[in-house]
Amino acid sequence: MIIAIDGPAASGKGTLGKRLAAHYGFRHLDTGVIYRAVAKAMLDLGADLQDEARAVAVARALDPEKFGDPVLKTQAIGDAASVVSAIPAVREALINFQRQFAADPPGAVLDGRDIGTVICPDADVKIFVVADPKVRAHRRTLEARGRGEAADEALVLTDILKRDERDKNRAAAPLKCAADAHVLDNSNLDIEGGVRAAIAIIEQARATR
Ligand code: DC
Repeated sequence: MIIAIDGPAASGKGTLGKRLAAHYGFRHLDTGVIYRAVAKAMLDLGADLQDEARAVAVARALDPEKFGDPVLKTQAIGDAASVVSAIPAVREALINFQRQFAADPPGAVLDGRDIGTVICPDADVKIFVVADPKVRAHRRTLEARGRGEAADEALVLTDILKRDERDKNRAAAPLKCAADAHVLDNSNLDIEGGVRAAIAIIEQARATR
């Protein structure tokens, strides 16, 4: 079984996907981390983020063992990831890895921006997670402070809006809700509430399959 979690409020920390995977005994991939890893490698090389040939080479050479590096979660890497993820050839280079991950037994939860539309269009259940940008800014600010980073909530909000625009309007795999996705608005839900709502969607989808 493949569960696709997309949407502007979906990935970030990958908490929802991780919790769902644990609940069902599936493997979990927070695909934002892949783009963040490409971005970090480009910054480490001192490369221009728009340098397609280098970014593709970096994407092909990624080491999944390093996806847990906490530095990948920072705002600076997230901004750089938004730039490299807009390069079609970079996305192309990462498709097989994601599809293979999804196909391996016993089942998988993938979260990102284009899982239900491009990577796994035949996913068994698709959930598109949205939340009020102000609520997301508040959450991200608290997270950043929890990591010991200074964070100005107004700036975080500006950054979120800018990044959403870029993700939605890029030519390659723009962020959009798949026609058969279930929309989950978690503005007024805490993590537990979001997990419960997602499980309810999945159970209903399984029952009607
Ligand atoms: O979800 P995140 O903040 O970790 O994602 C970082 C960037 O990577 C974000 O700007 C969008 C991009 N991304 C993407 O284009 N496709 C995905 N499947 C996941 C993330």
